[in-house]
Parts: sequence; structure tokens; C-alpha cells
Amino acid sequence: MNIIDIILKKKNKQQLTEEEIEYVIKNYVNGKIKDYQMSALLMAIVIQDMTNKEINYLTKYMTLSGSKLDLSKFSNVVDKHSTGGVGDKTTLIIAPLVASCNVKVAKMSGRALGYTGGTIDKLESIENMKLNLTTEEFINQLDKIGIAITSQTTDIAIADKKIYALRDATGTVESIPLIASSIMSKKIAMGTSNLVIDLKVGKGALIKNIKDARRLANIMIDIGKNNNMKVICLLTNMNIPLGNNIGNSLEVKEAIDILTNKKDNELKTLCINLATYMVSLGLNISLKQAEKMVINNLKNNNAYKKFKELISYQNGNLSSLTKEEPKYIIKAKTSGYIINLSADFIGKLAMHLGAGRLNKEDNIDYNAGIILHKKNGDYVEKDEIVMSLYTKKELNLDINIITSNKKVKKEPLIYEVIK
Ligand code: URA
Repeated sequence: MNIIDIILKKKNKQQLTEEEIEYVIKNYVNGKIKDYQMSALLMAIVIQDMTNKEINYLTKYMTLSGSKLDLSKFSNVVDKHSTGGVGDKTTLIIAPLVASCNVKVAKMSGRALGYTGGTIDKLESIENMKLNLTTEEFINQLDKIGIAITSQTTDIAIADKKIYALRDATGTVESIPLIASSIMSKKIAMGTSNLVIDLKVGKGALIKNIKDARRLANIMIDIGKNNNMKVICLLTNMNIPLGNNIGNSLEVKEAIDILTNKKDNELKTLCINLATYMVSLGLNISLKQAEKMVINNLKNNNAYKKFKELISYQNGNLSSLTKEEPKYIIKAKTSGYIINLSADFIGKLAMHLGAGRLNKEDNIDYNAGIILHKKNGDYVEKDEIVMSLYTKKELNLDINIITSNKKVKKEPLIYEVIK
């Protein structure tokens, strides 16, 4: 067996065998297959796709490439994963909210690359946060306070870590087989038995249309079934940013506003929905009962108390989050309904301000970002403030807020739920 034959086989749209997939993953992890060869194979997969059988094998060997966490001593652990979007700070709200309902939340999160957010970067904007928990620390914390959030440890799904970095640098991120195997290998290795996936669809997401989202959802549900994991996918809108704040510390502040009941927006609605599915799975109760618990624990501050407990348990200092003054204010030049503040546009603008990184090595400015006072579809008067921009950079910005006289139809927040 050799890698060149395997690359050519995929290039010619042929199905790879289990042995070939095992060979690729093992030899890529041990360094015998080089980055340039793996890149060629990844691009062939992006273009020629994979069958469900191939995706299951790929997931299997990616999972086996690292160690496995044993969470079997806990009976009600639930995890949530987002495929990534702009302004997506749901984990910061949902994780403590669900944990406050006595469901254990074991969360291994990633960093942002490109303009889609990473929970670890957001949490790192809180001074002193410890986010590289050892397996022992992670399990002890889960036992003690019912919630733990850590960055991807080096020995879980090693192949995914290596492949994801390569995908990011070679334009091979947007591929259903590669996304499915990346997410599911990590979850299987983490010992997850219940998983709610927020599958983002739209301009600011990896998946651009509902047809692809349905296929990805069904593949992940199928992989879950083969691995004793219950998976529920919510297909949610990512044509516009989620909530009003984009950028690491700004997103933590918005999460706190939701947790302290100071704010009510579509971000809160989505969090309640995702948390309801998680609590229903974790406690094996009806959605109605779960929703009641979730809403109550948000209202009575139990979720916020759990958030504060989580932050202080992981050494974080919430008082480090100070109020910043915006560097630039963007106003509407015409009155009408806003039409051009799509998620991809805002995501790229936030990156430009310093909130994201183009390369893994880039430093980010934790306080950089955007507050959207108005969003697509909202009506603005001429000269009304639409955005506040936060950055350390001196920029020559020419941002035109485009408006229309016609009322814009509101898009759904949740397209569908697939179980
Ligand atoms: N999230 C992941 O963990 N992997 C992907 O490939 C895409 C989103």
C-alpha cells in the first residue's frame, strides 16, 4: 500500500477501503505520510466526497489515533458542539445553564481560526483563566462542580488536531466527510454519550445550505448510533451574527448580560432551545419539563451562579472585564432597512480589527470587536449609530451601511431539528 495510489484512487472518485483509511491515518500521525501528500488527499476528498462507510472508517481511525476519556462513572453527561459561526457565544451561556440543572457538562473546546469563534479564546479574555486542564483535573472538576471546560488536549484525537491545522491552511475545511469525522472523532474519544450539535447554516458558516446541513446532520447521527452516542442536530441560521457583540471579551460580556437577565434577544432564544435538548437528554425527561427547568434556572440566577463558580474554579478573574470605549462609531448615511451586515462581512471586519487570527501563530486582541446596535432587517434613521468598533489599530475604514426602502423578511432562527 502506498499514499500515492490512495491519492489517485480518491482523485478518480473510487471508494477507499478500511485498510487504506487506517494506513493513511496511522502513517500521517507517525510522520511517514507528509503534509503535502495529506493535503493532496484532503483536496481529493473535498472534490470527490466520501461514502458514509468511508466516513465511518475515517472517524474510527481518527478516534483511535489518541487516547480515550472514560466518563462512565457519571450517568448524566451531555456535550454540545457548534460547527462555528460569527458572534457564537452560546457555550458560555448554555454550559453553566445546563450544569445548573444538574446535568454534567464536559466540554473540550477549540480556538478561533478565520472568523468563526472559538470558546477557548473567548474565555481567555478573562484574566488568569486556566484552560489547559489535565485529564485528572477535568474529571475531578466535573465531579465537584458538574462543569469543566478545557482546550483540546494533545492526546485526544491526535489525527484531528494535525489534520484540522492542515485543512485550515489548504482550503479544505468546507467538506462534509472531513467536518463529520473531525467533530465525531473528538466526541467519541471524549467519552460523550449525549450530544447536541448546533449546526450553523448560512453565509457565516462552513455549511451554506440546508441540503448539505441535512446530510451532515444525518451522517453525524449515524456515526453516533454506531458508537452508542445519542446525537441531536439543530440546524440554525448563520446568515447574520448571533447576538449583538462580536469579539472575545465583548462576547463574554454579552453572555453575562444574558445570564443576568439584562438582555433578551435571539441569542437567548437559541440558548434556551439548545439547553432544553441537552437537559432533556441528560435527565431523560420531556422537552416540556426540560424547558421549564432551563427557563427557571436562567430567571432565578442559578445559571449565573454556576457560571461564576466555573470561572473562579478555573482561576479566572471576572473583574478584569472592564468597559472599553469604542475607537470608531459607524452611522447610517441613509434611512431604511439595513441589508448588508451579513455574518461573513461582520466576521471579516472583526478579524480586521484584531479579534481573530489568520494563522495559528497570530496574536489576537481580546478587546477588539464590534457591537451591532442594529442588525440586518432593522430600520435605521439617517445618522443613527449602527456599530461601535473596538480596536487598538489605527484604521482607515470606509464602511457603508446599505439600506433599502423595502421591509426585509425576518429569517427563521432554527430551521429544523434532526434526531
Ligand atoms: N468543528 C470541528 O471540530 N471540526 C470541523 O471540521 C469543523 C467544525
